[in-house]
Amino acid sequence: MTIRAAVKGVGHYLPERVVPNAEFEAIIDTSDEWIRSRSGIERRHFAAEGQMTSDLAIRAALAALADAGLGAEDIDAIIVATSTPDLTFPAVATMVQAALGMTRGFAFDVQAVCAGFVFALTNANALILSGQARRVLVIGAETFSRLMNWKDRGTCVLFGDGAGALVLEAVDGTGTTADRGILSADLNSDGRFRDILYVNGGTSTGTTGHLVMEGKEVFRHAIEKLAETAHRALDKAGLTPEDVDWIVPHQANIRIIEGTAKRMQVPMDRVVVTVQDHGNTSAASIPLALSVGKARGQIKPGDLLVTEAIGGGLAWGSVVLRW
Ligand code: UT7
Repeated sequence: MTIRAAVKGVGHYLPERVVPNAEFEAIIDTSDEWIRSRSGIERRHFAAEGQMTSDLAIRAALAALADAGLGAEDIDAIIVATSTPDLTFPAVATMVQAALGMTRGFAFDVQAVCAGFVFALTNANALILSGQARRVLVIGAETFSRLMNWKDRGTCVLFGDGAGALVLEAVDGTGTTADRGILSADLNSDGRFRDILYVNGGTSTGTTGHLVMEGKEVFRHAIEKLAETAHRALDKAGLTPEDVDWIVPHQANIRIIEGTAKRMQVPMDRVVVTVQDHGNTSAASIPLALSVGKARGQIKPGDLLVTEAIGGGLAWGSVVLRW
């Protein structure tokens, strides 16, 4: 018998305030047309004043638990993928744990920026396969609006806030690719590229700092590395792109999403796209897309999914799972 970490529930939360591209025309030299054509983004959500990453994470967690038909007492561990924690410490995951009224088990954050959810899912899978936990709440939650330099038109129009969550649980599998759950994963990072996407604050400055990005360079790496990691993960599972029902990519830029799908030879009607509505929500983008993809009726039980993401570090990776 093989243990698999399978999806039991999914949910998301987006802050109320929707910011259309046109709002930026008043504060910087940009246009709705430029933002749409260069990134595919039409609008994004921004958290309200005082609304923290943990608040978004808690709402997404409750939605995923409701979808799973479970309560906090059924969960053994919480992992939050975030680069925008409310505080340097404690972990956002412990804030979620307390809010859910969960007084046992353990909770921690994973920081791999836009690839954070893929890293968190892989960690949750390892906890389940090693018997450390039977059910893990995996959350991606971000308030990237708080890291923006509002004078930098090359970055401030691209990011948004939100949260998504999955409940993973141990199920018995057969050890074949017909099993539900996580079938394989591929993780990578290369710190030589740490300067092309970073936040210029932290303990070294005593400030939170702002996001700094060499967009063109990140774009170049993304196009090259995302299809590679997805192919490697599929290979590890003994699958090919033809087996894939849905690519659920990190939602940074429609041109990156299309370029990756093309390299994988998967048509765009098998790609879940939410970037137009959410912008780049970093670690929240994949769980948001999973939740929205399910709600739209795109993702169905038994479908084979590939998630892939890249971000600051650089850190990148992919997970293959059967829904
Ligand atoms: O989540 C993972 C991390 N992030 C990403 O994956 C993002 C990766 N990069 C990208 O998505 C794209 O590189 C961008 C969307 C950031 C930029 O698109 P681009 O096609 O690479 O444009 P560019 O940076 O080469 O800029 C083209 C022009 C420049 O003007 P000049 O030098 O040609 O005169 C920019 O100054 O567009 C200008 N520009 C803008 N114009 C209007 C840059 N930002 C804006 C803007 N509005 N907001």
